Amino acid sequence: MDNETLTITDNRTKATYTIPIYRGTVRAMDLRQIKTGADDFGLMTYDPAFMNTASCTSAITYLDGDKGILRYRGYPIEQLAEHCTFLEVAWLLLEGELPTRDELENWNCEIMRHTMIHENLKKFMDGFHHDAHPMGVLISTVAALSTFYPDAKNLGDTKCRRKQIVRLISKMPTLAAYAYRHRLGLPYIYPDPDLGYTKNYMNMLWKRTEPKYAANPVLARALEVLFILHADHEQNCSTSAMRAVGSSNADPFATAAAALSALSGPLHGGANEEVLRMLDEIGTKDRIPAFIDQVKEGKRKLMGFGHRVYKNYDPRARIIKQVAEEVFEVTGRNHKIDIALELERIALSDEYFIKRKLYPNVDFYSGIIYQAMGFKPEQFTVLFGIPRTVGWLAQWQEMLRDPERKIARPRQIYTGEDRREFVPLTLRGVHDRELTFA
Ligand code: ACO
Repeated sequence: MDNETLTITDNRTKATYTIPIYRGTVRAMDLRQIKTGADDFGLMTYDPAFMNTASCTSAITYLDGDKGILRYRGYPIEQLAEHCTFLEVAWLLLEGELPTRDELENWNCEIMRHTMIHENLKKFMDGFHHDAHPMGVLISTVAALSTFYPDAKNLGDTKCRRKQIVRLISKMPTLAAYAYRHRLGLPYIYPDPDLGYTKNYMNMLWKRTEPKYAANPVLARALEVLFILHADHEQNCSTSAMRAVGSSNADPFATAAAALSALSGPLHGGANEEVLRMLDEIGTKDRIPAFIDQVKEGKRKLMGFGHRVYKNYDPRARIIKQVAEEVFEVTGRNHKIDIALELERIALSDEYFIKRKLYPNVDFYSGIIYQAMGFKPEQFTVLFGIPRTVGWLAQWQEMLRDPERKIARPRQIYTGEDRREFVPLTLRGVHDRELTFA
């Protein structure tokens, strides 16, 4: 369309520029031509935290935060959660299409065949203190995988790249389960490929002395659905870390370790752990109004609420709420759900939350289910990291194939000192300011 352009007048020079608009977006580099003179670097955009900047094009996940829509490769998340297995969704995210029956069968076999980890990794894991946070253990062991598979550096070889993708997806549950058992001082359980992805993970976590572990089918399906819901979420903090680090051609294990690190923060994947701590602290329904007051006074955050993109109910939270009821049929009711429901009810009718469009996000209810299933809070972010690895890898692969790809390297606006002469140590005197790096 001819009128898909933006005309800008630079009031400093009175010059006018016309730049193209593509899918509601202008290219920041098109602004570089806007200069006050030959020495001028050209206009830049300033967007801390990428509030209004698209960092890539992507065909993987569609998210409309105002309408509360989430789709993987065009398929609504609700339909995928109802009808698919996690590995089926993993294939969809990576390949772009749902697998045929044969493709799915082979994919299941391929993933389960690679679930073992090198025995030396177990020794590496043994080096962690008994109370090491499982996310720290997972980040470190995923990074360590890079030393076991030096071929992973061959990023240009698509066959080799695929092999690393399979390795990472296969080994994540094994590493996560070993980190869990190390904490409890329990012997590691080798993977059982016959069980499939989710039930095998449960087997590696909870098998004791029985000859064959049998997962409860309702709990296994609940975990499968939670894995599907967490598999991808377009350009969030950890996915952006995956793309940024991957853009330097670091191998996928080092890159995924960076993404896991980003996920571990309490404002991102670490929020589900914080929600549980918050619900514990609130304790009883009658203490909710006082807690909400603290949030409104800016003293606290209502963890599991709010989202950079969703300004409507997070569709994943809606599905998780249903799953919670199914899980409680088996495990008995986790009383925290009643505090959470009441917290949600009060928050959603309060002007503070309405005005700011703050709704429950995926983390608000997931921890309550995980706890009912027997997971400890420090395990929750790990349960996020296992499925999100698929999304990271799909995004990483898409980034590597992108003809516009370059190493991620943002600009800055320098606000520091202008050039000044070095002062020798003997002439520096004494500062009266506090010694701090803050
Ligand atoms: N509780 C109370 N107030 C909140 C919350 C919250 N959870 N979230 C946002 N607000 C308020 C802010 O204080 C701000 O108010 P103001 O306009 O008066 O200053 C306003 O809502 C806008 O919030 P921002 O911080 O600008 O929103 P942003 O998009 O930067 O942050 C985030 C999004 C980090 C998720 C934030 O909502 C938050 O910290 N939530 C709690 C942590 C959480 O649940 N994280 C999980 C996110 S989902 C995920 O990563 C899987």
